[in-house]
Amino acid sequence: MQTENNITHVPVLYNEVLEHCPEHAKIIADGTLGYGGHALGLLEKYPTIEHYYGFDIDPHIFVKTTKKIQDTTATKPDLAKKFEGHNTSYTKIADTLTEKQKQADFVLLDLGVNMEHFKDLSRGFSIQGNEQLDMRFDTNNNPLTAEKILNSYNEQQLSTIFQTYADFNEKKSGEIARNIIKHRNKKAITHTQDLKDILSVSGLGFKASIIIFQALRIETNHEMDNLHHALTNIPKILAKGGIFAIITFHSIEDRIVKYAFKDLAKTEDFELLHKKAIQPHYTEIQRNRASRSAKLRLLKKL
Ligand SMILES: C[S@@+](CC[C@H](N)C(=O)[O-])C[C@H]1O[C@@H](n2cnc3c(N)ncnc32)[C@H](O)[C@@H]1O
Repeated sequence: MQTENNITHVPVLYNEVLEHCPEHAKIIADGTLGYGGHALGLLEKYPTIEHYYGFDIDPHIFVKTTKKIQDTTATKPDLAKKFEGHNTSYTKIADTLTEKQKQADFVLLDLGVNMEHFKDLSRGFSIQGNEQLDMRFDTNNNPLTAEKILNSYNEQQLSTIFQTYADFNEKKSGEIARNIIKHRNKKAITHTQDLKDILSVSGLGFKASIIIFQALRIETNHEMDNLHHALTNIPKILAKGGIFAIITFHSIEDRIVKYAFKDLAKTEDFELLHKKAIQPHYTEIQRNRASRSAKLRLLKKL
């Protein structure tokens, strides 16, 4: 998807998300607006929508996307006035809607990164290039960068990140953690090339190194804490018949969503829309490789 802002991000499981929005949805909260692909699709498809609250924590992406939405809806004032952007975390959805005395008919979390995060090498997310190890989505308010983690966490803390978020065993995680400490005792770890050198010394190839980069991104942005927060609070603000849709790209995230939804569905208040996660059709994966690990799970408020 190419826009006048030169943005490229293809929304994953687009049709599957759109078809699970309730027919007469009025209130939608999109917790991960990204480049607004799902948002514009939902706004176009469901004329009953009264308010579309779009959240994205990344200020760079938020600015570009609000401009994209303004441009796209410039000739459709009815659509434009329904959209309300919030440059903050999806963990604020429940409080925001409660303050507005609204309940949501559809809440979407499309977790993970935007292609733009990788394309803009200066953000430090990508294994390509040699940039400052930042990796923050929330560059305005999050004081924790990947650089800080690598230079201040102790061996056990580093090892735990690699075991928990990269699924490396204790031995390998410990070895990487010790190599990080050895490196930083001589010279601070500041750039992606420093990290790549450490991972290479630790015997990691390209794919395994990408998984370590991803684990550091998860820690930097408190991604699992945010997900737990959303799973506790968002079900409380769903309207009767409302749907909570979550797309994950990481097996740990998917496991967390799967068991949280299962537990909620054991009560009288919720049901699972599908027993198994919905995954992209192979034609989507052919068109968009980034979609290959996506899993969509849906919870309905009864
Ligand atoms: C995969 S993209 C979403 C793509 C979007 N559905 C679309 O159609 O373009 C994920 C987005 O979530 C944002 N994000 C990550 N953590 C967040 C959080 N805690 N709160 C709000 N947005 C977050 C990222 O900045 C990124 O833009």
